[in-house]
Amino acid sequence: MCQSELIHLAADLSFFHTDYLWRMPGSWSGYSYYSRPDFYEDVARIAARGIFDLLFFGDSAGTSEEYGGNHHTAVRYGVKWPWHDMMPMIPCMARAAHGVGFGITMSTTYHHPFYIARLFNALDHVTGGRIAWNAVTSRSKNEAANWGYDKLIEHDARYERAQEHLQVVRALWDSVEPDAIVLDRESGVFADPQKVHVLDFRGRYYNVRGPLPALPSPQGRPVIIQAGQSGPGMELAATYADLQFSTRRTLPSMKEHRAALDAKLSKAGRTPRDCGILWSVRVQVAESAAAAREKERAYLDAIPPEAGLIELSSMYGLDFSLLRRDMRLIDVADEVKAQNVHWGSFEEILKTTDPELTVEQLGRKFMTERILVAGGTPEMIADQLEEWHRETGANGGFMLGRGFSAPGNLREFVDLVVPELQRRGLGRRQYLGPTLRDNLLH
Ligand SMILES: Cc1cc2nc3c(=O)[nH]c(=O)nc-3n(C[C@H](O)[C@H](O)[C@H](O)COP(=O)(O)O)c2cc1C
Repeated sequence: MCQSELIHLAADLSFFHTDYLWRMPGSWSGYSYYSRPDFYEDVARIAARGIFDLLFFGDSAGTSEEYGGNHHTAVRYGVKWPWHDMMPMIPCMARAAHGVGFGITMSTTYHHPFYIARLFNALDHVTGGRIAWNAVTSRSKNEAANWGYDKLIEHDARYERAQEHLQVVRALWDSVEPDAIVLDRESGVFADPQKVHVLDFRGRYYNVRGPLPALPSPQGRPVIIQAGQSGPGMELAATYADLQFSTRRTLPSMKEHRAALDAKLSKAGRTPRDCGILWSVRVQVAESAAAAREKERAYLDAIPPEAGLIELSSMYGLDFSLLRRDMRLIDVADEVKAQNVHWGSFEEILKTTDPELTVEQLGRKFMTERILVAGGTPEMIADQLEEWHRETGANGGFMLGRGFSAPGNLREFVDLVVPELQRRGLGRRQYLGPTLRDNLLH
């Protein structure tokens, strides 16, 4: 849904409080840790100053127990732990800052489509049309156990359920026509029943009568985000998503990914412009290249040596602490696939990394290089973003992810890189409309 060739900007706030970043300079400075809205409100104000489209919150209601076979490592280092439900922060941020949108994650595996449709309709009202739903199928074994499952549902079966889930959510959002509300005090008619439709949906997983008992929201259909990178994940994105997140690591791989998504979009009767991609990128910016290198060194120093293996374990559901460090990636692949967790992104690692690399070597690179990395002066960063953007069809933008502290690094990006993007005609100077869709579209 990106008609313009401008770079859309988003920031991934999923991990900036955890994963070693809580130790970084500029992280949480001046704020109480995690649980109060003033921090998030200030972050929203900073993002709005940089005309960001979206602040994004991933979610997984679990605690990784993979590394070492228990929760101790995740808790000791704060690896994706804690992970609060960020939904209540959304109205606070929306009131504090105008223009910027909010993406928040809910699982199609654990939450009923009626609940999600109703909740996101309400969030769309409260934010004045600035909400997006990141529809995930969920991959954490501990999360499955928290929701009462003995075992994680199999990968492709999760996606099959997700296809039906999204079909129902969208039908519920469409069940009340935009002009259904009459509010005629004279006649006493509140709404036109001809414009409010029963679904009577009966599927393999869900039976939903409908209609949605709600006023049509400002966007009608809140923006849908999808981040699966496997075949079924890409199909779900091609069918329903307005935006996809992607973690490709090299330009050839990004181009291949864009082409694969375009082919699937065309099969679904949609066009490439119907689904933009936000590429995850880790940015290290400073006034000089030397200062950027120094910041990078401080960031790397804050990460314990075993961090990569901890991260690999939590991502792929396998205890990497038990594997021989000299095993090659190619030897681990079958076991990773058998975990039924996150196959799409491991395939990407195999494709873009030397498959002869050992587990030990990958561990060292994994924390810091698993998404695109751009470091240096604002001009150097803008050169790099511009190249990636143009070479992949200028259809979406970037999601600042991993390795950035807040509010420190977000403020730096807004102060240093955004003006450079604007100067090049690649960054927006103002919001174009009140809703997230208005801004993503143009
Ligand atoms: C950038 C990105 C962000 C993601 N965010 C979440 C998240 O917040 N919660 C979650 O459960 N899964 C998340 N995922 C996982 C995917 O939604 C998907 O469930 C997972 O990648 C497995 O599907 P795949 O094999 O199609 O990649 C994310 C994936 C990517 C690439």
